[in-house]
Amino acid sequence: HIFEEVVYVLSGQGETLVWQNDKPKQSFAWQEGGLFSVPLNAWHQYRNTGKSPARLVGVTSAPVVLDLYHNSDFVFHNDFDFADRYNSEEGYFHRSRYFRYEGLKGVNPDDLVSIETSHVQDIRKLDLKLFPRGEGNSYAFLQMADNVIAPHIAAWEVGVYSKAHRHGPGSIIIIIEGKGHSLVWNGDVYYSKGKPHHRVDWQVGSMFVPPLYYFHQHFNTGNSPGRYVAIAWVGRKYRVDGLGTETHVQPVTHIREGGNQIDYEDEDPLVRRMFDEELKKSGVKSRMPPVKYRDPYGA
Ligand SMILES: [Fe+2]
Repeated sequence: HIFEEVVYVLSGQGETLVWQNDKPKQSFAWQEGGLFSVPLNAWHQYRNTGKSPARLVGVTSAPVVLDLYHNSDFVFHNDFDFADRYNSEEGYFHRSRYFRYEGLKGVNPDDLVSIETSHVQDIRKLDLKLFPRGEGNSYAFLQMADNVIAPHIAAWEVGVYSKAHRHGPGSIIIIIEGKGHSLVWNGDVYYSKGKPHHRVDWQVGSMFVPPLYYFHQHFNTGNSPGRYVAIAWVGRKYRVDGLGTETHVQPVTHIREGGNQIDYEDEDPLVRRMFDEELKKSGVKSRMPPVKYRDPYGA
């Protein structure tokens, strides 16, 4: 099919066979925690090699592609090989490399984990680096299979929450470790003044999507680290203007400087109270630094 797909393995184990027209077939094995992408329009077939059912979740560019071509024959029965992305090279699904990702304004590329790959065995075990999204918050950025859609993986230490931010469309979040909640709201900097404003409680396997340009803020309220994978429209090598590029390239610039992130000092005091209440229920001590609130739009 002529749309991209990134797959996360929720449970089980198996194998995917991949091939293009008359070129040699290749296969790779996956298991719980794995993340992979079959290159665009390559044939692929899944096989469960374990003793229990396997469960996979895929994030694709299908809705936009189907809207663009409105011809399912073209999208699903098309024998074009995108050889510039994948040319049946041996070992393709067993290699990855670190690269220098310079696409984020205000973030030093040396402080980022950026990996080009088509398959990570277990993203729950991937080493991340602290990222200026908030206290005890770390990230890794992936570029997979020369796609435009791309995942990043983020984790929170125990007793912390990240700063709120907002951006372009279609950033699909799958929780892979921990327990907590996220606040999702529109408009005002203050969560409680957002129209609408929602709280999303999550655990391993939860999936949600902050709507276009809605603020969202994640809180780890459990007694273990939390982690998610988010697959969004902004690749590290390729992008589609209008699908989030403008906001994703400056992810940590504060709203008062024209960016889209809210510092702790500027947030609705209610959000920390909600966090502290949830921590109390879990018997977890907050590791957040004390905060002195200020007017978010003040000088
Ligand atoms: Fe986000």
